[in-house]
Amino acid sequence: MSFKRFTITAALPYANGPVHIGHLAGVYVPADIYVRYMRLQEKDVLFICGSDELGVPITLRAKKEGISPQDVVDRYHAMIAKSFEEFGISFDHYSRTSSPVHWETSSEFFKKLYQDGVFTEESSKQYFDEESQQFLADRYIQGTCPNCGFAAAYGDQCEHCGSSLSPTDLKQPKSMLSGKPPVLKETKHWYLPMDQYENWLRKYILEDHREWKTNVYGQCKSWIDQGLKPRAMTRDLDWGVPVPLEEAKGKVLYVWFDAPIGYISATKEWAKANNRNWEPYWKDSDTRLIHFIGKDNIVFHCIIFPVILKAHGDYILPDNVPANEFLNLEGDKISTSRNWAVWLHEFLEELPGKQDVLRYVLCANAPETKDNDFTWKEFQARNNNELVAIFGNFINRAVVLTHKYFDGQVPPMGKTNDLDTEILDRLAEYPVQIGGSLENFKFREALNQMMDVARMGNKYLADTEPWKVIKQDKQRVGTILNLSLQIAANLSILADPFLPRTCEKLRAILGIDKLKWADSGKQNLLQTGNQLENAALLFEKIEDSVVEQQIEKLKASKLENNPDQQVQTRPQKPEITFDDFLKLDIRIGKVVSAEKVAKSKKLLKLVVDTGLEERVIVSGIAQNYTPEQAVGQTVTVLLNLMPRKIMGIESQGMILMAEDADGRFGFLQPDKEVKPGGEVS
Ligand code: 2FM
Ligand code: ZN
Repeated sequence: MSFKRFTITAALPYANGPVHIGHLAGVYVPADIYVRYMRLQEKDVLFICGSDELGVPITLRAKKEGISPQDVVDRYHAMIAKSFEEFGISFDHYSRTSSPVHWETSSEFFKKLYQDGVFTEESSKQYFDEESQQFLADRYIQGTCPNCGFAAAYGDQCEHCGSSLSPTDLKQPKSMLSGKPPVLKETKHWYLPMDQYENWLRKYILEDHREWKTNVYGQCKSWIDQGLKPRAMTRDLDWGVPVPLEEAKGKVLYVWFDAPIGYISATKEWAKANNRNWEPYWKDSDTRLIHFIGKDNIVFHCIIFPVILKAHGDYILPDNVPANEFLNLEGDKISTSRNWAVWLHEFLEELPGKQDVLRYVLCANAPETKDNDFTWKEFQARNNNELVAIFGNFINRAVVLTHKYFDGQVPPMGKTNDLDTEILDRLAEYPVQIGGSLENFKFREALNQMMDVARMGNKYLADTEPWKVIKQDKQRVGTILNLSLQIAANLSILADPFLPRTCEKLRAILGIDKLKWADSGKQNLLQTGNQLENAALLFEKIEDSVVEQQIEKLKASKLENNPDQQVQTRPQKPEITFDDFLKLDIRIGKVVSAEKVAKSKKLLKLVVDTGLEERVIVSGIAQNYTPEQAVGQTVTVLLNLMPRKIMGIESQGMILMAEDADGRFGFLQPDKEVKPGGEVS
């Protein structure tokens, strides 16, 4: 079917950290290439994005940094928006899900579904922290993994063995808010009955969208084949859009309910600011809706959001969801918490003016069908061997020779020979080829085809040797250069989606305005006599020192964040006798209260029930445990250590801790409940 307009969305990045190259390669670079291509075709295209500012990921970051969720999103929204802009991702509108329009839109959406009786209501038991009087999101519960025994597994996943968990799977669960074991408490939620849409989804995706990328289609099929379960669209959380129901006080919309609706809210904002109507972009069947996302978002965009849209009834559905796989960095998974990433804002600062190089490398090596790896060496090699040696070199030679032999004026195209005709025929085919690849979301292939145009130009100059021919036939040289410059002008269109800044410079050199995709393939884009500017270099060689510096920076980050690689496990201490060991009186205790020791970053003053009495013990654990987290913990205490004064407080014993070589500690705790006073022997 032929579409009249295009709504293109790129996943809303969480405003809980900056954007990195993994995000760019997976989502924003391909989306931007696609949109620029559509604009060159003069299509009615709207490119929408914004910051995802609600839900648990934001509250976790706020807790980690000790600031409010609002502070977190304000900081990262500004940072992300600025770096996208500087990088050249050409959104028509970049919004945020804290915007009033979004709250209203997502709230209305929920209300409509509620009124239409779409949701099922279910009460279930969920973990509740009695001390902080709140239900706990999965990520706020930690405990021992039932599969591998890792003591700090989260309620939704064990980061040690990778298994996906439910909070009730955890052994010895603890609230990360108070450090206390949570209790199960009844709570009511509103569920989207995904199971009722199974047949509809089978047709919508598995039959009607067989053209979707194999990785996307495969993941959808596997979700559907496994059987879909109702999914709660509300959460017990204090950071989100309030559920618009009287009986749901204190509950908010599930972030994966509101976030995709964020695309619609952003469209409304764009329409208002530009005096346009938003509705056709979401409601008219001749609009094509495409979501660019990473593979971790497939189920939300291909299954859950379409069900929400379908249930509402007034909206069109995603026509394609060209999700990419993941990009690794120097052989390792990109990780925000381990600071293993190339951050966009740092790249822009440290390698100014290299936006197009990064776009090029990320597209050339995009994780389209499988996970891929970014290395700084490859970044350098692709710049030096491809952008400089092929693209830049061709343009430079054509322009420099024109200056040299024709005072920088486009010479007339004379009589063409067989080679010229062959080149011109090939030139006419490229826009179709490249366009076809782009239409099919094969961005790497399209980029390669675009570079073939530059390769063809280089080879044409090498084969025709105008610098030799000039001695006997200036007119022939005019034809060669005219043809070469026509190739260059074509490149200013064909390369524009991939290398927009470069093409702007190229057009300035050639003295032409921005052309349309429909102009490409033609051999008369440049008028005879057109004055060229001096050839400015489009790309510069990147020296070893530049990438070595980046590699060093990553290495330093690895050492800082995985210090076990630098600190050796300490060697064994000298032998002791059994009698020496018997001198130690070690018992199980329980922390009754805890407070920070004034003027100390490391110390907590604990009162510990040792089974004999309550003792004050000063312990250097403040960087690992807040007083709230320490209270209620079962601990192991060396009782008969001579009392000593620490920061003016008499400490009557010592809490035994297990400590990594890197200084990470944990309490030593028996694996079964042992009452205070229990002896360690
Ligand atoms: O995975 C993520 O980063 C999410 N913030 C993407 C949301 S996309 C959309 F649904 F808003
Ligand atoms: Zn595990």
